[in-house]
Amino acid sequence: MQNFDYMTPTRLIFGKGVIKELPEVMAQFGKKILLTYGGGSIKKIGLYDKVKELLSDFEIIELSGIQPNPKYDPSVLDGVRLCKEHDVDVILAVGGGSVLDCSKAIATGAKYDGDPWDLISYKAFAKESIPIVDIITLAATGSEYDSGGVISRTETNDKIGYVDPHNFPAVSFLDPTYTFTVSKKQTAAGCADAMNHIMEQYFCEDSTILNDGFMEAGLKSLMVNGRKCLDDPEDYTARAEMMLTCTYGCNRIYALGSSPSGWPCHGMEHALSAYYDITHGEGLAIITPRWMKHILSDKTVGRFVKYGVNVFGIDSSLDKFDIAEKAIQATYDFFESIGIPMHLRDVGIDESRIDEMAHHVAENEGLENAWAPLLEKDIADIFRASL
Ligand code: NZQ
Ligand code: ZN
Repeated sequence: MQNFDYMTPTRLIFGKGVIKELPEVMAQFGKKILLTYGGGSIKKIGLYDKVKELLSDFEIIELSGIQPNPKYDPSVLDGVRLCKEHDVDVILAVGGGSVLDCSKAIATGAKYDGDPWDLISYKAFAKESIPIVDIITLAATGSEYDSGGVISRTETNDKIGYVDPHNFPAVSFLDPTYTFTVSKKQTAAGCADAMNHIMEQYFCEDSTILNDGFMEAGLKSLMVNGRKCLDDPEDYTARAEMMLTCTYGCNRIYALGSSPSGWPCHGMEHALSAYYDITHGEGLAIITPRWMKHILSDKTVGRFVKYGVNVFGIDSSLDKFDIAEKAIQATYDFFESIGIPMHLRDVGIDESRIDEMAHHVAENEGLENAWAPLLEKDIADIFRASL
């Protein structure tokens, strides 16, 4: 078991109707709020009006139009400018992971004198930030309980995932009823994203019985509840369990004491989203089974056997490589069964920029140090196998 140093300072307020606590929570941080949101889903579900009604005693400045795969320019830069101009006390992010990630970059950027990109690209480190409260409306990323953020910069084809302890939200409101309206496409993508977060931590050199059991349960929970949410979008119990399982995803709690894995599928998916602006969870679902096939070897097969037997119930008496191959096929079949397009061509990606993307990943993601190391040629092979 590896040493670790762990803290999550985020308060989670979970359940139906918890938004009534919003005014009291916001008042702890001040009176001037930057309200951030995306393309309008929060208006359609009545959440925007509810927030405005509850916060009628506060001064609210708004930043809307934050896109999926949130963009540095204009969203992060606009948010930083608004915070500085209005001397904002607290950011209230209402929406999915993209809105929250953008808000995280704004929160530190607004307290930094230089170019906020320095903080995202680790050229500099934040010393302070504006506190963030969020109301998460899509179960997927776990951004509501982690210190990560992922920001895209269109002109350089960069999509950078970075961590900064200032990125932890101070308070996250999780009301599963707000996820009832999430489309089938985004529900399935969210399920695949959260499953991949677990897999990224599961497939490593050194784990524990405790972590493996926790992660195997997480994967089973996501498969069962993800399907239930697709069958009945207003199944509260399924939406609630899915939400909580997703919340744990990137917070490291699934893998305390495990050795690092390098998060290879995320490293590769960042390029797909950066170059083609695809939905993150779909890109992951397409890559994951191809990555698994690519790295299957005498060194890695043991983890695949454990995964196949404990997650998919594959007969443990079979040959170890048979179990691994069945487990990889079961992974593919599950993603396909929840309606995810399983080829890069299905999401508009062809052969033309594969070598360029593989080069970009090899240069920027450090996957040569992953549990199963990936060099530029491996990355290109995985992309081609995903076409
Ligand atoms: O923009 P609006 O109108 O709000 O619509 C959004 C968006 O079109 C819609 N939506 C959100 N809540 C809804 C809803 N539609 C109906 N009803 C609701 N209740 O869903 C669409 C997708 O939203 P987005 O926020 O992009 O999705 P998600 O939460 O999956 O976030 C994806 C982003 O998070 C990053 C990804 O790379 C991607 O950029 N990630 C962040 C992580 C983190 N901070 O820890 C970890 C992840 O690995 C992930 O990389
Ligand atoms: Zn992810």
